[in-house]
Amino acid sequence: MSTIDSVLTENRVFPPADAFVGQANISGRAAYDAMCAEATNDPENFWARLARENLSWATPFTRTLDESQAPFYKWFDDGTLNVSWNCLDRHLENGNADKTAIIFERDDGTSERVTYRALHARVAQFANGIAALGYKKGDRAIIYLPMSIEAVVAMQACARLGVIHSVVFGGFSAKSLQERIADVGATLVITADEQVRGGKTIPLKPAVDEAFSMGGCDAVTNVIVYRRTGGNVAWNEGRDRWMHDVTAGQPETAPAVPVEAEHPLFILYTSGSTGKPKGVQHASAGFLLWAQLTVKWTFDLKPDDVFWCTADVGWITGHTYIAYGPLAAGATQVIFEGVPTYPNAGRFWDMIARHKVSIFYTAPTAIRSLIKAADNQPDHHPDKYDLSSLRLIGSVGEPINPEAWMWYYKNVGGERCPIVDTWWQTETGGHMITPLPGVTPLKPGSCTLPLPGIAAAIVDETGGDVELGKGGFLVVKRPWPAMIRTIWGDPERFKKSYYPEELGGTYYLAGDGANRDTDGYFWIMGRIDDVLNVSGHRLGTMEVESALVAHPLVAEAAVVGRPDDLTGEAVVAFVVLKQERPDGEEAKAIAKTLREWVGREIGPIAKPKEIRFGDNLPKTRSGKIMRRLLRVVAKGETVTQDVSTLENPAILDQLGKAL
Ligand code: WTA
Repeated sequence: MSTIDSVLTENRVFPPADAFVGQANISGRAAYDAMCAEATNDPENFWARLARENLSWATPFTRTLDESQAPFYKWFDDGTLNVSWNCLDRHLENGNADKTAIIFERDDGTSERVTYRALHARVAQFANGIAALGYKKGDRAIIYLPMSIEAVVAMQACARLGVIHSVVFGGFSAKSLQERIADVGATLVITADEQVRGGKTIPLKPAVDEAFSMGGCDAVTNVIVYRRTGGNVAWNEGRDRWMHDVTAGQPETAPAVPVEAEHPLFILYTSGSTGKPKGVQHASAGFLLWAQLTVKWTFDLKPDDVFWCTADVGWITGHTYIAYGPLAAGATQVIFEGVPTYPNAGRFWDMIARHKVSIFYTAPTAIRSLIKAADNQPDHHPDKYDLSSLRLIGSVGEPINPEAWMWYYKNVGGERCPIVDTWWQTETGGHMITPLPGVTPLKPGSCTLPLPGIAAAIVDETGGDVELGKGGFLVVKRPWPAMIRTIWGDPERFKKSYYPEELGGTYYLAGDGANRDTDGYFWIMGRIDDVLNVSGHRLGTMEVESALVAHPLVAEAAVVGRPDDLTGEAVVAFVVLKQERPDGEEAKAIAKTLREWVGREIGPIAKPKEIRFGDNLPKTRSGKIMRRLLRVVAKGETVTQDVSTLENPAILDQLGKAL
């Protein structure tokens, strides 16, 4: 709770500079208020107007919102369009064919520029290639690719055909990949031989082969492999094909198949409060509309901007703000293969200077690690680089602590660039609560105010509004076009997770706790469920627990988050072994084995930072593990709460000792 108190006493305010306001796409508070009023008074007309003005439709829609099956909302549902057409073809028609769409920088510092015309041709060739293999609208493709132009090409080519993609982050293990291939019912997998990050190659194709060996992937008839490094890979004749063979000889134009507005564009798995990740399903038109609009509103995109979002396409941020939003808006964007600290801590700043990046969007975890790195490598401090091209900087993925905000503001933004601290989620499709750079006075650590059309509010456990200054559950009271449509294959779980009866069943429950100050600004306090946020990546405590108990040595495990200066939260696991509780070197060795095991079961991001062994776990008399106490123990604090319902209070002392 101490961090919440400290952000709520934060009282520095940074109003937008007049020069910025003067040129902004949404300029001044009156403009924002007018848009909010339009959205509140007549939401359907507001959204219909935006959808008509901003998207190119194959068949115009006549119905804006269908609430008859709520909470399974439908938007623009009698209209048809093609997402890839909106991202590529219309720029060719608008005279932007020779504008740079992507500046791709490899790990080794070499780069490649692709115009909208060239990107269109590459997408068309690949779409033709997979169509020739028999893929068509409604099929599901798993994309397991490194950051590359090819990743964008693969996603756009799927969208061009109406093939539903599900991107799996390259850092996920073979096991996680296999679960997603099976759950989504994929018939196509697109991968690379290897990825290159921080001067090292990391295999990808072998993980696909391993996933297949685990079963459940029989529906997949083709594995398309992008040759990134030329490293040695096993080859399954008849199933595996090189991406360059698939595209060879294909025409550079391809039909863009019009799909219904509600046709799923993609499914992206994210962690929830149970062990099984949820396949968040997004619809074509609503998602695209919001991706494009928020690029123009939040990032104030102008034709000459160079936009750079440092996320990976394996996460929602890379979907909305790399693969779709910037292209729909006709932006020039940087895509980066590598890591922020290679070859040194100045990599981001050097890239901003070289590519004249004007809008930069990254995560608090990257900022925190670069603050530390800049201290250790003063030669690579941002002040050693020319960052004068920047005019706006952004943050996403987790709360940004005021200290990191101030460092970012001063050292990267030169006290001239507004910071947009954007609160949103995989499920929301795009920004929800964020400053508008030409409107909103900034307060370090607050994501400030909802975007026009977003009915964000804070309620208590019965769904009643709470007064300003009182914390509660963050909800969205009205549907919006980019919202999650369902959980793939599990509509009941969708309803239960996001539209719980306890809140009346009509509010979208975000899963975050939040507070509002007297200016109406939102302050996000973190998750209210069993979801952790480690370096901006969502992880379910149950996922990590399931992975741990799957190890033959483990009898029982409980996982909690602990605040961490660098990663935001860190995973701490309390483990009971089937054998006697180990100590000393043996305990260290087993902890190492278990960490690696979790890395293989889920992915390196899920490895517990700390593992503690106990004879038992703190349980109530009815056998429920008291995670709330474990959270206190994990922080190294003494438990002061009432422990009278505990079966075995002495266990807290034992678990309180680190290895
Ligand atoms: C957290 C990432 C505070 C939040 C786009 C949310 C944030 C979860 C912010 C979603 C922010 C994201 N301030 N917290 N600006 N942005 N979060 O699905 O807890 O990976 O529920 O989407 O990240 O994570 P996800």
